Amino acid sequence: MEDSWEKLKADCEACHACALCEGRSNMVFGVGRQDAEILFIGEGPGEQEDLQGEPFVGPAGKLLDTMLTLIGLDRSKVYIANVVKCRPPRNRDPREEERAACMPLLVRQVELINPRIIVCLGRIAAQSLLDPDFRITRQHGQWFQFRGINTMATYHPSALLRDPDKRPEAFMDLRLLRKEIRAVCHSTELYDDRI
Ligand code: URA
Repeated sequence: MEDSWEKLKADCEACHACALCEGRSNMVFGVGRQDAEILFIGEGPGEQEDLQGEPFVGPAGKLLDTMLTLIGLDRSKVYIANVVKCRPPRNRDPREEERAACMPLLVRQVELINPRIIVCLGRIAAQSLLDPDFRITRQHGQWFQFRGINTMATYHPSALLRDPDKRPEAFMDLRLLRKEIRAVCHSTELYDDRI
């Protein structure tokens, strides 16, 4: 049977594939345009995201919004999701088995969106989508393929909050992203020639 957003969301709400569901206030599905050409993928919900049921609404989310603005984007033009849809306790990294349990749901979400570009926010997303040995410090800003989709990783906004010295590198990644958007995206609302 063909997949649908309704079916995927219901499956996520009902999911007990790993123990993270036991501690969640809300399953954090994702937010944005269902036909977005650009998909951002973070690691997993934090405290605010768990309470509000939306990704990147805490301090890291504020910085993500600024990063989007720098290249003429905002939440209404993209889609934002996470590798795991339930909050890991005390914001620890999601474990390998938790990521593996959630990945089929994320893959279905990627297939429904069918984006032209994916941006992994941080090491966990890059290791989950691209390569378990992905080194964010060495490989950020490079283009790879995830299921035939152009995919790059940049620093997670939380890492940029902890270590502002990394921000110039992240800015260079955003410029490369901007270039790729111009090359492969069709939607005119993604272009702002002043940027
Ligand atoms: N960090 C993430 O990786 N995802 C969120 O949704 C919030 C913070």
